Amino acid sequence: MSDRKILVTSALPYANGPIHLGHLVEYIQTDIWVRFQKQRGNTCYYICADDTHGTPIMLRADSEGITPEQLIAQVEQDHRADFKDFGVLFDNFHSTHSEENKHLSELIYTRLRDAGHISQRTITQAFDPVKKMFLPDRFIKGDCPKCDAKEQYGDNCEVCGATYSPTELKNAVSVISGEKPIEKESEHYFFNLADFTEQLKDWTTAKGHLQPEVKNKMAEWLENGLQQWDISRDAPYFGFEIPDAPGKYFYVWMDAPVGYMASFKNFCAKKDLDFDQFWALDSDVELYHFIGKDIIYFHALFWPAMLSGAGFRTPSAVFAHGFLTVNGEKMSKSRGTFIKARTYLEHLNPEYLRYYFAAKLTDGIDDLDLNFDDFSQRVNSDLVGKVVNIASRCSGFIKKRFDGKLSATCSETELFQHFVAANTEIAELYENREFGKAMREIMALADKANQYIDEKKPWLVAKEDNKDAELHDICSMGINLFRLLIAYLKPVIPALAENAESFLNIESQAWPEQAQPLLDHAINKFKPLMTRVEADKIAAIVEASKDNLKKIQTPKAKQFEAIADTIEFDDFAKIDLRIAKIIKAEHVEGADKLLQLTVDIGDETRNILAGIKSAYAPEDLEGKLTLVVANLKPRKMRFGLSEGMVLAAGPGGKDLWVLNPDQGAQAGMRVK
Ligand code: 2FM
Ligand code: ZN
Repeated sequence: MSDRKILVTSALPYANGPIHLGHLVEYIQTDIWVRFQKQRGNTCYYICADDTHGTPIMLRADSEGITPEQLIAQVEQDHRADFKDFGVLFDNFHSTHSEENKHLSELIYTRLRDAGHISQRTITQAFDPVKKMFLPDRFIKGDCPKCDAKEQYGDNCEVCGATYSPTELKNAVSVISGEKPIEKESEHYFFNLADFTEQLKDWTTAKGHLQPEVKNKMAEWLENGLQQWDISRDAPYFGFEIPDAPGKYFYVWMDAPVGYMASFKNFCAKKDLDFDQFWALDSDVELYHFIGKDIIYFHALFWPAMLSGAGFRTPSAVFAHGFLTVNGEKMSKSRGTFIKARTYLEHLNPEYLRYYFAAKLTDGIDDLDLNFDDFSQRVNSDLVGKVVNIASRCSGFIKKRFDGKLSATCSETELFQHFVAANTEIAELYENREFGKAMREIMALADKANQYIDEKKPWLVAKEDNKDAELHDICSMGINLFRLLIAYLKPVIPALAENAESFLNIESQAWPEQAQPLLDHAINKFKPLMTRVEADKIAAIVEASKDNLKKIQTPKAKQFEAIADTIEFDDFAKIDLRIAKIIKAEHVEGADKLLQLTVDIGDETRNILAGIKSAYAPEDLEGKLTLVVANLKPRKMRFGLSEGMVLAAGPGGKDLWVLNPDQGAQAGMRVK
């Protein structure tokens, strides 16, 4: 047994949406690796957090009428439940919107700044004149400048593949307001990545830091020269304000990887661990980041540069993986293959998927295909047909004929030792993230165990006289081999392994490099450990995933009254709308619905009778600015003369809202 100290992370999921099967490739891959390390006796911590900052999260919260803090709290709950139910067992799951992350992001930034690695300059960017915010490329749509394809995003064209800047898009509009973006200048903060060119050349080429194909990609980028990295965003932005830079926020990708450290710091406080031992420059702890191939740039260039520029250690390795395809194609909402973790969990055993992903994972960055037929076939034939079957073939005889006790002798020491000896190669495959090969090795052993039983034919031996000892040995051997297979599969299917351990009546199994057969040992009654994948469950998942889309697409029933007939501008111009200040508001004797308002509209005051008593107390209104129709013909009402109309929205009763102008407007100003 070794006792390495290892810190492992998976990429932090964005807090603006649910976990789907695409995400799970990485979390399952990392979780298997971590469980394997723990089973080997290493000290290994698996750390993650929600990635909570940025424009999409801010806008989604806005559109849901909640604060970003409320949104990220809701999403965190869902993420935690999804991970737990898939057996993804973090030692700590935290948030980038945390004190620890604020502190560490500021610390790293100020160290970089003080060492001269931060520059400032003014840049011009697209700005939404209505929403009053700068627009990230993804929030601008228009026609491709190269091929004229409609509805393309601000950074690249999905039709012809061209890349461009959003200012080049034709007929560009803001996705948020639908308005044409204007260009606006603003001062930004940049991280001078090029200061680290030499260090990064060393780091990216050092043995073991990157996979070969990733290393080559980095070499190309380094060859082309490193650009400054824009790390600031203007308000409004959901994130951390940059020290000494009011109104400027850290770009989400600046504080996201710091979230690894922050979550670990949070963990250290709970477990009384020494943070510096893991992150100081001279740390001898192994640090590994599991990520998708789309975010290599951030992890293999920016992150090591940020860390070393701020005086911290760099990662021991970054392990990238490919994307998930389903039935050979990109996940698609219309085909029902964009499957949320929760949808899957409602229908199928999560360990089917853990095994299937393990069976297909390699140490490379090729995409991984989830093919539904292959999925059922592999799970049914390997886990149910081969592994679980061994226990069900042998346990009945042990229970019925030998009082639930295994034989006191091991009849086939060689076969048992062969199974134990396989641990070295299987461990090496797990260690090197060659899970597919490890699963093949384990299934080859399962085949051997089944062959052994086939050859020994316990069902025939059982019918013969005076063959009890032989029957006992055969079935005990089968159970002992099953036990080793379970030890090898434990990182992949931990729940099944736990149930198997209670059937075997044993403690949680360590890595079986020293395993001895269970002799004269009582086992428990066998209960089916896994049932076959049912095809109709897969169909149900696909159907439910399609439904998600239908729900989104179905237009909502109309809530509001229809828009009135179109009018000419001149018709509108006839209405003289003014900002008014409510000087006095009083009850009207005998009137149920009316309040009497005295309003200042600049050069004169007016008396207005407004039907808003059900929603406002007079004292709530006094001093407020509002909008009135100033040229409405005075109306003689039962309770007096009304010289105008206050504007309010809402269906009535309590649900009535008087309009207010934005700050700065003054009584008397005309609304146009
Ligand atoms: O790509 C993503 O989903 C990001 N939220 C990953 C962040 S990983 C880390 F750097 F925080
Ligand atoms: Zn194009």
